[in-house]
Amino acid sequence: MSVKLLVSRKRERGLRTLSFDFILLIYQYKKFSKENSVEGEVMAEWNQILRRKEYSQENPDEIVVNLASILEKRKFKRVLDLGCGTGRHVIYLAEGGFEAYGADISETGVKQTNTRLRSRKLEAEIIKCDMKSIPFIDSCFEAVICVRTIYHQKLKEIRETISEIHRVLKKNGLLLTNFHAKRSSKYRKGIKIEENTFMQENGPERGVLHHFVDENELRELLKDFKIVDLEAKEKMRDGYLRSHFNVLAEKTSALWISKVSKL
Ligand SMILES: C[S@@+](CC[C@H](N)C(=O)[O-])C[C@H]1O[C@@H](n2cnc3c(N)ncnc32)[C@H](O)[C@@H]1O
Repeated sequence: MSVKLLVSRKRERGLRTLSFDFILLIYQYKKFSKENSVEGEVMAEWNQILRRKEYSQENPDEIVVNLASILEKRKFKRVLDLGCGTGRHVIYLAEGGFEAYGADISETGVKQTNTRLRSRKLEAEIIKCDMKSIPFIDSCFEAVICVRTIYHQKLKEIRETISEIHRVLKKNGLLLTNFHAKRSSKYRKGIKIEENTFMQENGPERGVLHHFVDENELRELLKDFKIVDLEAKEKMRDGYLRSHFNVLAEKTSALWISKVSKL
């Protein structure tokens, strides 16, 4: 759908969508259509995975459920689900009365999320985009969730994504995300792409990148945020150790202020 059409469709729907027109940074939206680009390859890979219904869970992750009660206490309303997949968290947030936005690189994910929203008569704005270039204006979200998603990239792209999330969050806005831990049995499995980043060769995420961190690296990545909560989660399944970090972080200042204060 063209940007013009998208915006006029939103306008027809009335008041609630005015905010969407306002916060979408239209010119960036054009970046995501090139079929031969890296984005095109990543998108195609995820389209296939999502079509196989590997990530069509109904229930929200418990960390998102916990976040919702924090958001209610803070009276935060506008939330972006970055890498929304087939929409389980967008649906959960919209049902809970939040102003929910979803974004995913996969058009299959976008379509399935919209279909699931429509069948429940819920409203949320879902767009296709690459998480390292988020097409929304600065300081417009009170929370961003990026669950089971951010680590599917190389380190440089993870940094770009974190910087984009920081940009679109309001001051005191919250980021909920998670990272694979190096303690995980999956660490160093598959094709090495760069230090700590591997491409899976088997299983449902065949062809997909996974980046692994330890706690120090995670804290360094999020150095422009205040860490509100950091939890290391581990469990054995089928003889494998699954180990990851859940992190809740707060944007405490505009980036230029935090950089000046470190001089
Ligand atoms: C493992 S699924 C998780 C989906 C959802 N967050 C959930 O918890 O159910 C990862 C999602 O990230 C999306 N994704 C991968 N790389 C992306 C990128 N560069 N930009 C935006 N979305 C991306 C995929 O299309 C997929 O929907």
